[in-house]
Amino acid sequence: MIYPIVLYGSPLLRKVSQEIDLKDPELKKFLDDMFETMYVSDGVGLAAPQIGKSIRIFVIDGSEISKEHPELLGFRKAFINPIIVEAEGENVTYNEGCLSLPALHEEVQRPSKIRIRYYDENGKFYDEIFDGMKARIVQHEYDHLEGILFVDRLSPLRRKMLRGKLNEIAKGKVNAAYKTKVLK
Ligand code: CO
Repeated sequence: MIYPIVLYGSPLLRKVSQEIDLKDPELKKFLDDMFETMYVSDGVGLAAPQIGKSIRIFVIDGSEISKEHPELLGFRKAFINPIIVEAEGENVTYNEGCLSLPALHEEVQRPSKIRIRYYDENGKFYDEIFDGMKARIVQHEYDHLEGILFVDRLSPLRRKMLRGKLNEIAKGKVNAAYKTKVLK
C-alpha cells in the first residue's frame, strides 16, 4: 500500500515517536509499505511519521543517488527503534531536501560521523558507525522520529526568508509528483 506523504505543518511531524514491539505481526507489511511509498516518491529515506505513524522506524535506500555517491550502492536498510548514541567529527554542509517539504532544498550542517543502535526487520540488533553520506541520511531520518525537520537546523534568518514557502506547504499548496496531505 502506498501512503500519501504528510506535509510540513502537520502536528504529527512534531511529535517524538514511540518505540514499537519488534514482534508486532503487522511490522513486516508496514515495512514493505514504507519501502514502496519511498520508491514511488523517489525518496532516499522515509520515516514513519511522514506517512502518519508516530513510531520509531525509518527506511533508507541510497541506490537512487549512488551515481554521485558510490558508497550508497546497496545501502538499503530498515532502522527500527534506533538510538543515535554518539555524533562526532566536524560539521559538514550538504544540500538537503525532504519529501515532507516538496521543492525545498537548503544547505544543512550536521556532524560527519555517528554511532547508532537499532534493529532490522528480522529483529537483529546492530551497533554501527556511519560517516559521510550514510551518516547524513541517517541523521535526517532520525530527526523525523524526534519531531525535528531540516528547516529547524537552518539559521533563524534563513528560516525567516523561507517563511512564505513554508506557509504554502503547510496549507498543502505544493507541486509534488507524489501524493501529499496535511494532517490536522
Ligand atoms: Co525528511
